[in-house]
Amino acid sequence: MSVVIVVGAQWGDEGKGKVVDLFTERANVVVRYGGGANAGHTLVIDGKKLVTHLVPSGVCHPGKSCVLGDGMVIDPHTLLEEIADCQSKGLLARGELLIGLGAHVILPYHKLIDGLREDHGAKRGKSIGTTRRGIGPAYEMKAARRGVRMRDLLRFDRLRDLVTANLDDLAPVITHLGGTVPTASEIAKWIDEAAAAGERLRKHTGDAGRHVANAIAKGEHVLFEGAQGCLLDLDHGTYPYVTSSSTIAAGACQSAGIGPTQIDSVVGITKAYATRVGEGPFPTELHGAEGERLRQAGGEFGATTGRPRRCGWLDLPALRMGARLSGMQSLALTKLDVLANLPEVKVCVAYRLDGKELDEPPTDPDDIARAEPVYTKFPGWGKLPSDARDFTDLPATARAYVDTIERMAGVPFCLVSVGPDRSETIRLRDPFA
Ligand code: GDP
Ligand code: IMO
Ligand code: MG
Repeated sequence: MSVVIVVGAQWGDEGKGKVVDLFTERANVVVRYGGGANAGHTLVIDGKKLVTHLVPSGVCHPGKSCVLGDGMVIDPHTLLEEIADCQSKGLLARGELLIGLGAHVILPYHKLIDGLREDHGAKRGKSIGTTRRGIGPAYEMKAARRGVRMRDLLRFDRLRDLVTANLDDLAPVITHLGGTVPTASEIAKWIDEAAAAGERLRKHTGDAGRHVANAIAKGEHVLFEGAQGCLLDLDHGTYPYVTSSSTIAAGACQSAGIGPTQIDSVVGITKAYATRVGEGPFPTELHGAEGERLRQAGGEFGATTGRPRRCGWLDLPALRMGARLSGMQSLALTKLDVLANLPEVKVCVAYRLDGKELDEPPTDPDDIARAEPVYTKFPGWGKLPSDARDFTDLPATARAYVDTIERMAGVPFCLVSVGPDRSETIRLRDPFA
């Protein structure tokens, strides 16, 4: 197998960064395929932490080709900061980064509108709880065919005309949302800064689709790194409480411009429990002390915004839906250690709604919010040995938990993670094998 897609199976933050870093050992090319700096992917290697937002999480393996696909929305200033941070750590030393010229660009007005919409919505109890990174507005402009792409950053006349036209369109929206329309000199400054950022990024830009297709044709191992999670997918997630891109495995083909027949394997990542950031239905959410315990034990604070994540028990109906949407052939289970020392651990095995038991979430978000979780209880397992590297190193009760989830989700595990560090991993199967 040579082409593997890694996707979040829940609502994001499942540990994709850690797993992509591990799998990159076997890959030649690592491709981020959707979203932008709304993502925050954490890697911990020998106790040292790195959070990636735009750069693929394969970056810690020198010499691997890191690609930002055409389906992404890229904030050039954030990307430059991230490249500088990586280079200060001795990474990307050989400039092994390729940014698709077709990727869209996030400019200050996308972030302005994102924030204004959130504030305006909050007053009416209708905010999404976005990361305010400009993701939604950038994808809106893309769909409206008024977006600015990486290639436009490199052509000053085009950039100036596009930004000027965008702000003509957006001025009434900004006013309606209670914002201040930027002045001509502010707009000119944004254009100059964007053009300068484009110049600095120019040497990294190119035809990302051809690069990935050529690598596949040569039989190289290509790893696609999903952002967010399947239940945040624009088409299939808990709409409208979703992000604005295709987060499921199919998004990799869309973004990179390769056909679905090229994909050999899809790996989903799930925590041993569930978290969600922002608004939207979350049937297994734990309020009060139980939720707080998981939040503290799991360090569940956003890697991008620092917001406390909502925490709850593992939700198998949601996981089954994620597995179906992405055609997952295996799952990586993360954060099993966080459930240590609990008297009992619960798993939601079905939803009860209007007297019926459902094995997947209903399609209407209001129905998901009304659904009552049906739980199975497991005895707790005390502390997990942090040096567990073989499944048999785990206590019998923890193994029973993992085996039951695997059976009830209907997807086999390829990896169990027992701590944030790269080394704290039980490898069960190589996804490239
Ligand atoms: P991503 O967005 O899917 O890459 O996930 P995030 O990086 O946003 O959040 C996952 C968090 O869990 C990070 O702080 C990781 O370092 C951490 N993490 C990953 N796997 C494990 C694990 O098995 N145990 C523990 N305790 N932490 C983990
Ligand atoms: P990673 O890749 C968790 C959530 C936001 C909000 C919704 C829409 O680190 O798993 P957006 O800014 O995208 O318009 O916000 O999506 N969200 C994430 N939640 N992890 C992420 O990324 C997320 N990216 C977006 O909290 O609810
Ligand atoms: Mg994250």
